[in-house]
Amino acid sequence: MKQAGSDLPGSERSDEQVQGHWLLARLGKKVLRPGGAELTRRMLDRAGIGGSEVVELAPGLGRTAQEIIERAPGGYVGVDSDAGAAARVQEILGERGTVRTADAAETGLASGSADVVIGEAMLTMQGDRAKAAIVAEAARILRPGGRYAIHELGLTPDGVGDEIKTEVRQALARSIRVNARPQTIEEWRALLEAHGFTVEHVETAPMALLKAGRLVADEGLGGALRFGKNVLTHSNARSRVLDMRRVFRKHRKSLIAVALVARKDG
Ligand SMILES: C[S@@+](CC[C@H](N)C(=O)[O-])C[C@H]1O[C@@H](n2cnc3c(N)ncnc32)[C@H](O)[C@@H]1O
Repeated sequence: MKQAGSDLPGSERSDEQVQGHWLLARLGKKVLRPGGAELTRRMLDRAGIGGSEVVELAPGLGRTAQEIIERAPGGYVGVDSDAGAAARVQEILGERGTVRTADAAETGLASGSADVVIGEAMLTMQGDRAKAAIVAEAARILRPGGRYAIHELGLTPDGVGDEIKTEVRQALARSIRVNARPQTIEEWRALLEAHGFTVEHVETAPMALLKAGRLVADEGLGGALRFGKNVLTHSNARSRVLDMRRVFRKHRKSLIAVALVARKDG
């Protein structure tokens, strides 16, 4: 069967094997983060984008990049490790920003050159060492007083037991083909604080990535209908999406979307 979205990142892998976010993108989904576009907007409101030099780590398909540009930053630099994603976002932005292909832990950007660093749905997919390296890089490129805003997958409540944490992580890894390691809100806060940040705002939203209401809110009615049609007409993709939805539903009491906005001390 012909794959949908064969010009998208991840196109070298089949519908069965591709990472969950690129599968959803292949089916027409543009918002690939757990709290949806609304949590992003609330986070951007707090981050202070207007007039700021903004670095976005892992812009993916460029939806948040467009929102950032609409808020008239002083400058925009995107950094994605996927060359196809970086090229796509560069095409969307034209001369309004630059996008480089690099690991977020080693952006190559000058120290103290950014006022705001944004990163969504990208720390969750890293192990502990890579998470720490990326947060350290955000601290390095921010000037003192600069803001780091993240939007990631959370585990709830803060005291959730290790057994449930492991069960959820294993179920996610199997279903989305990404070694996802969501953390409790306290763990996200501690990660930022360990790298010289003070957390100023925490916002949450339900983890409703594949629920009908969220799909319409994020993609618009036309986009949600197109996504639904693509799911129905691509059988391998359909069983993956249904499995992802089952896993999100089964663990709905433990999963939450969280956005934190932190200020670099100093
Ligand atoms: C789930 S998508 C999220 C995309 C976008 N931020 C959004 O919320 O819609 C994950 C993105 O992170 C990028 N990524 C993953 N690990 C990365 C790393 N270490 N450095 C830079 N980008 C990374 C992937 O290429 C992909 O574009």
